[in-house]
Amino acid sequence: MKKLFALLLALCMIFALAACGQQAAPAEAPAEAEAPAGDGSLVGVAMPTKDLQRWNQDGENMKAQLEAAGYTVDLQFGANDIATQVSQIENMIANGCKVLVIASIDGDSLGTVLAQAKEAGIPVIAYDRLIMNSDAVSYYATFDNWLVGTTQGEFIRDALDLDNAEGPFNIEFITGDPGDNNINFFFDGAMSILQPYLDSGKLVCPSGQTEKAVVATANWATDAAQARFENILSSNYADGTPLHAVLASNDSTAQGVENALAASYTNDVYPVITGQDCDMAIMKNLVEGRQAMSVFKDTRTLAAKVVEMVDALMKGAEPPVNDTKTYDNGTGIIPSFLCSPVSCTVDNYQELLIDSGYYTLDQIS
Ligand code: BGC
Repeated sequence: MKKLFALLLALCMIFALAACGQQAAPAEAPAEAEAPAGDGSLVGVAMPTKDLQRWNQDGENMKAQLEAAGYTVDLQFGANDIATQVSQIENMIANGCKVLVIASIDGDSLGTVLAQAKEAGIPVIAYDRLIMNSDAVSYYATFDNWLVGTTQGEFIRDALDLDNAEGPFNIEFITGDPGDNNINFFFDGAMSILQPYLDSGKLVCPSGQTEKAVVATANWATDAAQARFENILSSNYADGTPLHAVLASNDSTAQGVENALAASYTNDVYPVITGQDCDMAIMKNLVEGRQAMSVFKDTRTLAAKVVEMVDALMKGAEPPVNDTKTYDNGTGIIPSFLCSPVSCTVDNYQELLIDSGYYTLDQIS
């Protein structure tokens, strides 16, 4: 009996070891053929407007890159109208899209339609702008928006040499749409650099307009920016007071400021003006000295990252992220991929924009 038991035990151990061995050293799996990327699946891409160059470019980049990866793309632009964007997304869901990529017009207005997406099991990638207060948002792909703001703030600090020059210097502020969560990062990032100089009196804001809600611009519209600055100039600078700097969060608002200056500012001191996007139209202003800098966000890189995210989601893999602590949309942190923005001036635009193939020289001259 004892012998039989010992034999059984030995047999069990042999089997167990064999099983272990199999787990530890599996036979080489045959190389898996790459799954046909895309497979014709429908991806819905909702962009906010065609009015600003960047969104046309973002939309076209996304479409081209997704199609190259084998997806079918439904690309829509929302004409800066929330109801239009909502109905475009509803259609994408009804048409059976597998993933939604959305650059929102108003980050707070998509909760209901995105609840439908969630119900249908469609993952949502927030593109460039975070979609707020919706737990249907799976991922966020954008640029480091805080870094955009600090880059602009630091540019003004260094251009005016605020740490050494005597001053005081006059500055005015303008940012973008209050429904765009990005302005909290752009404006607050810039203010994290500039506020200490306002506090010490080295910087002075003659209009007194320094609050984000006051310096915001509906739809980032150039006309509205121009109208606000015409008022600021006539009320505070008509007597010859110099304006040394304007913190503008992007190129469309900077353009409004530059139009207002051209119409009604006569002082010889021309302000240091910041921007963002390297819009084709403002490159002329940059080269001719009407705008000191812009922040270049290579939308090709962002589109490529989103395509990687879509691909991973379609294959049930983990999309690439490099930030899991910054972007809370009110329902929790949204895992994000942040691309890097770069300061662009007359000194490096050739290398950044032309040599890299982003624009041809013709497009910006
Ligand atoms: C984008 C900027 C753009 C602005 C106006 C923001 O959400 O991040 O690049 O200039 O919208 O379209």
